[in-house]
Amino acid sequence: MEKLNVVLGTMHFGTKLPERESRELLDRFVDAGGTMLDTADCYAFWGSHTGFGGQSEEIIGRWLADRPGMRERLYISTKVGAEPTVAGGFPERKQGLSAAAIRQGIQGSLKRLGVDRVDMYWAHMEDRTADLQETVSAFGDLVTDGTVGRLGVCNHPLWMVERARRIAEADGIAGYTAIQHSYSYLLPRPLARIEGKVHRFGNLTDDMVDYVQSNDDMWAWAYTPLLEGAYSKPERMHEAYDHPGTTRRLAVLDEVATELGATRNQVVLAWLTGGEPTITPIVGVSGAEQLDEALAGVAMELNQEHRARLDAAS
Ligand SMILES: NC(=O)c1ccc[n+]([C@@H]2O[C@H](COP(=O)([O-])OP(=O)(O)OC[C@H]3O[C@@H](n4cnc5c(N)ncnc54)[C@H](OP(=O)(O)O)[C@@H]3O)[C@@H](O)[C@H]2O)c1
Repeated sequence: MEKLNVVLGTMHFGTKLPERESRELLDRFVDAGGTMLDTADCYAFWGSHTGFGGQSEEIIGRWLADRPGMRERLYISTKVGAEPTVAGGFPERKQGLSAAAIRQGIQGSLKRLGVDRVDMYWAHMEDRTADLQETVSAFGDLVTDGTVGRLGVCNHPLWMVERARRIAEADGIAGYTAIQHSYSYLLPRPLARIEGKVHRFGNLTDDMVDYVQSNDDMWAWAYTPLLEGAYSKPERMHEAYDHPGTTRRLAVLDEVATELGATRNQVVLAWLTGGEPTITPIVGVSGAEQLDEALAGVAMELNQEHRARLDAAS
């Protein structure tokens, strides 16, 4: 079966989305040819009465345990750095990216997932209190000892990603070769801050896209690619997207979607996955219909004319 260029986001599994529904989505995803899962040790502390995360990894772990042989078919990604150390303490009191936090973080994730290695391990958010050299060494050690297949970084400014990569290169150890930021076809106004989103550098910028395009070893993953459903539920569109570029892009998006008999969401996903560089979307879905729509979107190919029109709208 062909592998799909899409990651299933499992952020709400075990909190907003009950276990039964979460497992049904996991089954449906793999049955359709999906292989990549995204989680984090902190998912989803804000949705749990405990004030701590781990529910998403635990559900994946129990689901895997019931499906012998499934682990080998999957690409599992998880993250460290954003779990609160005290209930209610986020963002001031969180695990961060010290060597000790990374070593403890991966052990907790492996245990909850019930696996002996993960394929991708992300630094979830910046920790400017941690020494960058220490962070880079601790992550690199996990690749050296085989606990982690690849390293990635979320929500960091590009200068920090580049600096960390140079440190790893100088030390002869594995460094970050993937970035994960928020990205979609519609773009927020520059410098607009979305309240409730703590990551100052959480948006994938044109600079970052160029960085990925210019470095063969880099891979970009986009979170919140469907703007939390705002393409089909306009009341969810954040004020940061209220600018003339959105009006123009939505008009072209609608034209292309109508011509293809597809939905806005599907054209957005096809635009992300089929561009240069290809951007791998992490889709969050709450039901089978949404999942099927997303999978059909990533399987779609835009022709050059459609892509050129979509790209030109700004
Ligand atoms: N690295 C990071 O800092 C970071 C941050 C955020 C997310 N992530 C990752 O990215 C994943 C996705 O993020 P997200 O949940 O914020 O983004 P999203 O995929 O943009 O939005 C998911 C929500 O959109 C709605 N939706 C999806 N498909 C739809 C459809 N066809 N029609 C109508 N509504 C639809 C659903 O809302 P309803 O449930 O209301 O229907 C769904 O829960 C997460 O699970 C996580 O793995 C990473």
